[in-house]
Amino acid sequence: MPVIVPARLAFTADGTPWSEGYGDVYHSSDGGLEQARHVFLAGNALPARWRGREQFVVLETGFGLGLNFLATWQAWQTDPQRSARLQFVSVEKHPFGCADLATLHRHWPELAALAAQLQSAWPPLAAGFHRLRLDGGHVTLTLMLGDALDMLNRLTADADAIYLDGFAPAKNPELWSPELMRALTRHAAPDATLATWSVAAAVRDTLTEAGWHIEKRPGFAAKRDMLTGQRPGPSVIKKPAHERSAIVIGAGIAGASCAASLASRGWQVSLIERHDAPAQEASGNPAGVLLPMLAKDAVNTQARLSRASYFYALRLLHELARSDNSPLRWAPCGVVQIARDTEHEAEQTELLARLGLPAEYVTFLEREAISQMLGRPVERGGWHFANGGWISPPTLCQALIAAGGDRITSHFGHEVGSLRWLAGVWHASDAHGRSLATASHVVLANADAARRLVPDAELPFTRVRGQVSYLPGTRLSELRMVVCRDGYVTPPAPVGRGNESLCCLGASFDFGDEDSTPNEIGHRGNIEKLEHMLPGASDGIDVTGLEGRVGFRTTTPDRLPLVGSLPTADRCRAQDRLETLERTQGLHCLLGYGARGMVWAPLAAELLSAQLEGEPLPVERDIVAAVDPARFLLRAIRRGRR
Ligand SMILES: Cc1cc2nc3c(=O)[nH]c(=O)nc-3n(C[C@H](O)[C@H](O)[C@H](O)COP(=O)(O)OP(=O)(O)OC[C@H]3O[C@@H](n4cnc5c(N)ncnc54)[C@H](O)[C@@H]3O)c2cc1C
Ligand SMILES: C[S@@+](CC[C@H](N)C(=O)[O-])C[C@H]1O[C@@H](n2cnc3c(N)ncnc32)[C@H](O)[C@@H]1O
Repeated sequence: MPVIVPARLAFTADGTPWSEGYGDVYHSSDGGLEQARHVFLAGNALPARWRGREQFVVLETGFGLGLNFLATWQAWQTDPQRSARLQFVSVEKHPFGCADLATLHRHWPELAALAAQLQSAWPPLAAGFHRLRLDGGHVTLTLMLGDALDMLNRLTADADAIYLDGFAPAKNPELWSPELMRALTRHAAPDATLATWSVAAAVRDTLTEAGWHIEKRPGFAAKRDMLTGQRPGPSVIKKPAHERSAIVIGAGIAGASCAASLASRGWQVSLIERHDAPAQEASGNPAGVLLPMLAKDAVNTQARLSRASYFYALRLLHELARSDNSPLRWAPCGVVQIARDTEHEAEQTELLARLGLPAEYVTFLEREAISQMLGRPVERGGWHFANGGWISPPTLCQALIAAGGDRITSHFGHEVGSLRWLAGVWHASDAHGRSLATASHVVLANADAARRLVPDAELPFTRVRGQVSYLPGTRLSELRMVVCRDGYVTPPAPVGRGNESLCCLGASFDFGDEDSTPNEIGHRGNIEKLEHMLPGASDGIDVTGLEGRVGFRTTTPDRLPLVGSLPTADRCRAQDRLETLERTQGLHCLLGYGARGMVWAPLAAELLSAQLEGEPLPVERDIVAAVDPARFLLRAIRRGRR
């Protein structure tokens, strides 16, 4: 993945935004908003075409200042007959930083409210896909930061309308190349339309060759013509392909995120949990850390997914925290990840210099700077994730379930013993065969216990015991941020029983240990970790008096979660590919979150929901494949193990 070079803010003498790099204006000097409405909206017969649809998908080349996006969102929002949801997908190689976007948007006061929402969700400028939930989840912007051709080749989407908005073809040829037009055409729905301000002969020719019926129309302001295009084919109104109901099994962060995500799309969800409340197992710690992982190479799948998931989780947490009476407890107080030794310190600095990651995401801080921030000496420098922090996962689960409103029916205190597919419907029953719920879809979000419900599925999980220890908040009262090294400690927060102030210290990794009660060995290990992070902090702690909690992580051999539809095991053959493999109708999973569930859960739920709804997917195709639940079955069959 390339390093993103942001756009530089510049204007022509008449105040039109100008690109020094491309030597062209961002929009007509006769009015950017009017141009957006004339060329891109009217050129695609909008708003009329989104009416009567569940969702409408726009795909754009060149996000620029987001004017086309804001104009589309505004037109959609003010249309009483709008589609239930608007999906906007756009690619940008040189995005503006947020402050520059705000400066640019000030020119259109009528867009101020929408522009402010966009700016507050604007991601750090790291390469790859960023999924932004706007307008309470009714509008989604999938922003692909990188070169258009590369990004389009990684996209899964069927666009209903395409906006071709590169700079002039002579100045920006790669955004109008035949290859790019073919890539766009591959993403066009059968009844898609397109529009562009350009009428260059080469553009007309490449579009015609790619299969479009091109028409010249009166252009905007001083431009005589513009182009519109239509794909030959019947006009199909997209309808949801199936009844939108789901049984979600497990109310930890995987299940609660899934229930909320489906409910926000209008699904009816039966959330079944064997305990009397959500988040009683792995998701039950009073506080955990929201921290992504970095890798040495820029293309590493785990690191890219972790980054996208971290950004998505942060945006969702801010959104949930804004809602009235939210039970959510969390703090984006920042996380420092202190280097283990001098070698690791050098690696940390080198890696950031090489990957060119945005400072809003991560920076390297010297030992002195960290010591100053923490108010106590540390041994090494380390990475600083200024927007990371801690979350109380049980309150996150409660907030997610509450956000689903009456679309989520919770069935606490019921354990699903079996699943049956009968007459096109899934039936979940308890161990005595009593029916608990029926729905068109089932999502297994019950960690390693899923294996009992689908014994045929290849789910090579390892259960890893983890123990956390609680310290009274007064012990580290000066601590204001999360500190990590080979373990972590959260700053004092009212997350204990009766809102008692606690620091959460963790965590052990105990393979092959099924002891579900906290023990002294675990506490001792955690206290040692504390001493490595914050020398002197363990002085005087009596481990025999510590309280804590045990949970079990569900880890996978490749340390990636399982997100998607389960394959039909007995129909899978060695020569199959993930894309062609037969799937069991309506059976999906969100499993294997290992030690990073707080980071994975929200985006994984968004990915599964997008798959079920046929929306543009929020992550790159190679990431979708990397988390495909069928990967282990396919590997087992290819190795002759099944
Ligand atoms: C000690 C420890 C510390 C951790 N620290 C962090 C951290 O700092 N940051 C981080 O990101 N992650 C951390 N993790 C990892 C994170 O907690 C997990 O990845 C995450 O909680 C997994 O969520 P889940 O919903 O998949 O599983 P769970 O929370 O275990 O939820 C599964 C649910 O399914 C229910 N269930 C199972 N079978 C059935 C059935 N048949 N019928 C009905 N219900 C059923 C269970 O009761 C359970 O509630 C930590 C984990 C541990 C153990
Ligand atoms: C005319 S501007 C788009 C204006 C934008 N649609 C709006 O509404 O504000 C063209 C944009 O295309 C981007 N661009 C140019 N070449 C690109 C490429 N190869 N890949 C992705 N984006 C590119 C430019 O950085 C610029 O922001």
